[in-house]
Amino acid sequence: MPPQQHLPNPLTLTLIVATTPIPPLRTTTTGEKVPCRLGIGQNGTLPWPRIKADMSFFARVTSRAPRAGTTNAIVMGRKTYDSVPRKLRPLGKRINVVVTRDVSGTVKEGVLRELEAKRAAAAAAATAAAANTTTTTTTSGSGGQETDAVVGSGLEEALDMLEKGYAAEGKLGSVFVIGGAEIYAAALRLGRERPVRIVVTEVEKTREEDGPFECDTFFPVDEELVMQKGWRKAGAKEVSEWVGENVEEGWKEEGEVKIQMVGYERLL
Ligand SMILES: NC(=O)c1ccc[n+]([C@@H]2O[C@H](COP(=O)([O-])OP(=O)(O)OC[C@H]3O[C@@H](n4cnc5c(N)ncnc54)[C@H](OP(=O)(O)O)[C@@H]3O)[C@@H](O)[C@H]2O)c1
Ligand SMILES: *[C@@H]1O[C@H](CO)[C@@H](O)[C@H](O)[C@H]1NC(C)=O
Ligand SMILES: *[C@@H]1O[C@H](CO)[C@@H](O)[C@H](O)[C@H]1NC(C)=O
Repeated sequence: MPPQQHLPNPLTLTLIVATTPIPPLRTTTTGEKVPCRLGIGQNGTLPWPRIKADMSFFARVTSRAPRAGTTNAIVMGRKTYDSVPRKLRPLGKRINVVVTRDVSGTVKEGVLRELEAKRAAAAAAATAAAANTTTTTTTSGSGGQETDAVVGSGLEEALDMLEKGYAAEGKLGSVFVIGGAEIYAAALRLGRERPVRIVVTEVEKTREEDGPFECDTFFPVDEELVMQKGWRKAGAKEVSEWVGENVEEGWKEEGEVKIQMVGYERLL
């Protein structure tokens, strides 16, 4: 393999997050407007009950590879990995990149054990399905996308692993940073030369009088920062291009909540 050159176009990072506005408890003494905080988590899980439309949006967008033969990466903190139901992880047809400070190897062993279990189950299902078919044609279910998992000791190291491995072999699709707060913050601290986009699902209760969701984890930039300082809001057409499917403008109701998808791009 030739030595890895420094990529002229650094990988674009797309942060994908669902947020809910948490109004400030009080205004400042000087009376200036305090922006809402953007809640993303509560007690190790999401602040709201399952929102089917958002879960499937997340699954489609993060799984859909930009070119045949490539697989997208989803980069996450160890706590977010743990928040995924055990039987679903590592998430299929994506390169799951888990970031941890654990040096004992326990986190890595756990992730790789779950990867092996997932692969074994998929192989067993494929064998069973093949035994059931009367023809010899094979069904190409995954379209060449691999399910993989790697564990890194930091975000930079994780991106490096992707660039030297999958990207060098031409097999890396898009890179999504899927949280939580600590990893979003690390992504936003990376060099300004790296293009960063944020795809946000805004979540609110349908009945405003029910008050905000309870949150203990917040997206590391507040609403004002996202909207004004160093960020540009993208139109629905542009966000549709980023995610590879049509994103309509405006709120959609799903039971007790309403959601809308919006995008931001960091100004260089
Ligand atoms: N609404 C959304 O879209 C969304 C998305 C994702 C997550 N969430 C929610 O967010 C919460 C989890 O977020 P979180 O901020 O608590 O945790 P997190 O970012 O998912 O994970 C934090 C962990 O990542 C590792 N880590 C963080 N920074 C690191 C660094 N610089 N180098 C190496 N390892 C590092 C550490 O793992 P070790 O402890 O193993 O060392 C740390 O404990 C949950 O409630 C989850 O449901 C919401
Ligand atoms: C928080 O989560 C833990 C474990 O996930 C659970 O045992 C506990 O009941 C939860 N606490 C609340 C207040 O929901
Ligand atoms: C095999 O086919 C039978 C009958 O169509 C079906 O009930 C069974 O679930 C199939 N098994 C698998 C593993 O696909």
